[in-house]
Amino acid sequence: MSSNTEKIAFITGANRGLGLETAREIGKAGVKVLLGSRNLEAGEKAAATLQEEGIQAEAIKFDLIKKEDHTALQAYLETHYGRLDILVNNAAFTLEGNASDLGPHNTVLTVSSEALRETFDVNFFSVVDLTRTLLPLLRKAPAARIVNVSSILGSLTLHSDPNSPFVFDYKSFAYGTSKSALNAFTIYLAHALRDTPIKVNSAHPGWVKTDLGGANATLELSEGGKTSAALALLGETGPSGAFIHFGETIPW
Ligand SMILES: NC(=O)c1ccc[n+]([C@@H]2O[C@H](COP(=O)([O-])OP(=O)(O)OC[C@H]3O[C@@H](n4cnc5c(N)ncnc54)[C@H](OP(=O)(O)O)[C@@H]3O)[C@@H](O)[C@H]2O)c1
Repeated sequence: MSSNTEKIAFITGANRGLGLETAREIGKAGVKVLLGSRNLEAGEKAAATLQEEGIQAEAIKFDLIKKEDHTALQAYLETHYGRLDILVNNAAFTLEGNASDLGPHNTVLTVSSEALRETFDVNFFSVVDLTRTLLPLLRKAPAARIVNVSSILGSLTLHSDPNSPFVFDYKSFAYGTSKSALNAFTIYLAHALRDTPIKVNSAHPGWVKTDLGGANATLELSEGGKTSAALALLGETGPSGAFIHFGETIPW
C-alpha cells in the first residue's frame, strides 16, 4: 500500500458542509484532496482555506447530475494522476425539509413523483454512474477506497422498528429511500469487488450542524467528517460492504 502522501482523493460536494470537513480530515492525513464543487469559485475558496491549513487541495468544477462533468473528471484524473485512490460520494440533497425543522413526519403519500425522481437522480443514480465511470481509475490505485455517504435514515431495519427512537417516526420518503438504495449499491459493489483490494462502505456521519442537518443537530461540523474520512483511509484489514458510524456497525 502506498503512503498517504502519494494518494489522491476526490470528494463530491466538498465546497461546504460535511464534504469540506471530510476533505479536511483526509487532507490532514497527507492525502491530496480534489474538491468537487458545482460552483468553481466556492470550491476554490474552500481549497484556499485548506491550503492555508497546510493541506494539498485543488478545486474541480463538478456537478453530479451532469454526465459531461463525469467524463471531464475522468479525463482530468487520467491525464494528471493516472489513478484515483479515494472516492467519497458525499454530495446529496433533500427536497423534503431541513432535519432541524421537521418533527415526526411521513411524506410517502405526499411527496411528488417529480421530487422523488429528482432526489434519486442526485442521491442515487448519479452516484452509481460516477462510481462506474471512475472504476477503471480506482482499479489502477494500489488499494482504492469508495465511501458512499449515506444516513441512518436509509436504514430499513430502523425504519421498521417501532423502538427505534428517531428513525421510526422520521420518514422523508424520497431522501430516506434514496439512501436505502445507496446502501444497496454499497453491498452489491463490495460483492462485485470482493476479490480486489478495493473496499466499499456506507457512512452515517451523524446528525451534524450543516445546511442539511440544521441548527438543532447534535454534532458539531468538526466531528462530522470523521466517519467518512476513517472509511476513506481504511487499512488492509478494514471492512468492505459495511454501514458504519464512528467505527460502529449500523443495521441496514
Ligand atoms: N448533516 C447531516 O446531519 C447528515 C446526516 C446524515 C447524512 N448526511 C449526508 O452527508 C452528506 C453531506 O451533507 P451535508 O450535511 O454536508 O449537506 P449540505 O451542507 O447541504 O452540503 C451538500 C453539498 O452537496 C453539494 N451538492 C448538492 N447537490 C449537488 C449536485 N447535484 N452536484 C454536486 N454537488 C451537489 C452541495 O453543493 P452546493 O454548495 O453547490 O449546493 C454541497 O456542497 C450528504 O450525503 C447527506 O445526505 C448528512
